Amino acid sequence: MNFTNSNRQQKGVILSPSLLSANFADLTASVRQIEEGGADWLHIDVMDGHFVPNITVGPIIVEALRPLTKLTLDVHLMIDDPDAYIPQFVNAGADLITVHFEACVHLNRTIAHIKSLGVKAGVALNPATPLGMLEEILPDADLVLLMSVNPGFGGQSFIPSLFRRARTLKSWIRREGFDCVVEADGGIKPDNTAKVYEAGVDAIVSGSGVFETPNPAETLREMRRVCDATNLIKV
Ligand code: DX5
Ligand code: ZN
Repeated sequence: MNFTNSNRQQKGVILSPSLLSANFADLTASVRQIEEGGADWLHIDVMDGHFVPNITVGPIIVEALRPLTKLTLDVHLMIDDPDAYIPQFVNAGADLITVHFEACVHLNRTIAHIKSLGVKAGVALNPATPLGMLEEILPDADLVLLMSVNPGFGGQSFIPSLFRRARTLKSWIRREGFDCVVEADGGIKPDNTAKVYEAGVDAIVSGSGVFETPNPAETLREMRRVCDATNLIKV
């Protein structure tokens, strides 16, 4: 799985297009488009109609996608009581499972649960949740997902506090020497991708910014080009 620090240094930005804006009547074609564009991960948004006001997909879609691609399956759980469903997503083929801080009463247990099943564990924060809430879990998290929209829907406007939050989180991770990927999700398109990357984000999620363009593969290549052009050395 493309995940480690050394991979990030070699490859620059990690691009994780979100399936939410793909063509659900032909997911194979959507996967091929993003593979052609050089995607690293495939972001799968799971919503339950409780934690967020929308319902999307469950483990059977992850299971159907698994044999189609070698891309890292980046599963973003926007659901209450994630512990009850984590084993199903692992069995379905998820490589990385991210749960929301706001949905987990026993977050330490939930992160340990995910890791005990042999996959990477991420913690997502809504835009209004203070970064300080990560203090006790950051040493254990493989990834922090900073939301740059309120979760629930694709196509929303980017909330600019992401820049400050990403900078602060990244310097914290560097200072402490944690091996933790910073991911950002929501409202990211080619025109703000470089600024998000420069703020310290390692992995960029984009749904409508990729799939609602005439040529998703070319859009992904453009996103990588603008990140590479920043000459940012990731350490
Ligand atoms: C929103 C989801 C996102 C969504 C992003 O709740 O977590 O992953 O697909 O969509 P865009 O990139 O269109 O904002
Ligand atoms: Zn997401």
